[in-house]
Amino acid sequence: MNHSKFSLSRRNLLTGVATTAVVSSFSATAQTANSALALPSLSNRTADSLASDEAYWAEIASYYNRTQGIINLEHGYWGKMAKPVIEAYQRATKMVNDQNSFYARKHFPADIRDAMSRVGQALGTQEGEIVLTRNATEAIHNLIRQYQGLSAGDAVLFADSDYPSFKTIMRWLEQDQGVESVEVITPALADQQQLLQSYVDAFDRKPNIKLMLLTHVSNQHGLVFPVKAIVEEAHKRGIDVICDCAQSWGLIDYKITDLKVNWAGFNLHKWIGSPVGVGALYMRKGALDKIAPYPGEYDLDNSRAYTRVHTATANFAAFLTVPTALDFHQAIGGENKQARLHYLRDLWFTEAQSMNHIEVLGGKDSMSSTGMSSFRIKGKTTVGDANKLQQRLENDFGIFTVIRKGLDSGACIRITPQVFTSADEIQQLVDSLKQLG
Ligand SMILES: Cc1ncc(COP(=O)(O)O)c(C=O)c1O
Repeated sequence: MNHSKFSLSRRNLLTGVATTAVVSSFSATAQTANSALALPSLSNRTADSLASDEAYWAEIASYYNRTQGIINLEHGYWGKMAKPVIEAYQRATKMVNDQNSFYARKHFPADIRDAMSRVGQALGTQEGEIVLTRNATEAIHNLIRQYQGLSAGDAVLFADSDYPSFKTIMRWLEQDQGVESVEVITPALADQQQLLQSYVDAFDRKPNIKLMLLTHVSNQHGLVFPVKAIVEEAHKRGIDVICDCAQSWGLIDYKITDLKVNWAGFNLHKWIGSPVGVGALYMRKGALDKIAPYPGEYDLDNSRAYTRVHTATANFAAFLTVPTALDFHQAIGGENKQARLHYLRDLWFTEAQSMNHIEVLGGKDSMSSTGMSSFRIKGKTTVGDANKLQQRLENDFGIFTVIRKGLDSGACIRITPQVFTSADEIQQLVDSLKQLG
């Protein structure tokens, strides 16, 4: 663990760069000035011992501005930027606006290449395997729409626990490609073996499956799917896998090579804490041939992943802030974040599990769960029930949450703390859950 005071200050997250004068290679330049802030020293603490250290996480919380007037337990939407990140973003926004096309035409291409390289290093990819996008949806939609391996009579597979707009586009392949779409129903409270078995059963039931969408961490209840094991089973049967890592990167700590996938989509604006408007497409080298270039683009030897996306004019400053967001994320430490979020989840989840009126949804064991999980009142599974519950938590208890309605088993309330959430706030959730009976 070397994410010490020194490492953050060395990286100079609170720089005051004279941006109008220095336009070349903005992201590199932004890291050369002096920093006033430094994260508390970790002095070789393990992630597990740090997870319950309220004093440490209170210091981390001081790097974020608080949501006013509510306990916000809906951090699955997008990630709040830490203060050093928002300051870097504001500087980048000003520089881009001041320098306008003179910057964007001359220097932005090199700066976005640097940002892509940083993302690639953090995810453990090879050079050229990452393309920055505006969000995970852009990456995953392109992968699905540009996939070339389907013929009439084939089937495509997705799960009830997948992201709703991606289920829609998998279903749309029926009309676009003349294929059959198949939905696998995954258990809403599950372990790794049960999740793997759901997919193996679906593969056995439908030998004509050629393409599947596989979510690493579900937006419904934070379940972690055993991606590597499912991919191995899929590949044995000649099934291609598009992996949705939109919610997983930063919520859990991993390298893309751990998953053994050929293609994936990510978000940096969730758990990596970049400005909104940054996602990433991953395409493994040597696995480009089945995903066509974006319409009108060419890649005759299938070696240029960037031809699979045509982002056009986007938020330059958001992309320029990626290295600072990664610096901050890495200064806290991916493993430490994962352990803290998991700890906060366990605080309410284990209590809720013992309440007769509550049904919990998510991972049964630590391999299958994240900081995000869900619950509902036993037997109350309609969207109307969940809406009422969300309102009650907000209005009667001052706790903000979100309803999720994609699961076959019914609607639920998702609880998603952030690294700046305190154990006291989770205790207030537990006290509220007791009163819902
Ligand atoms: C699992 C999952 N996939 C995809 C998305 C879409 O992310 P975005 O809207 O940033 O593209 C989300 C967003 O919540 C998600 O949780």
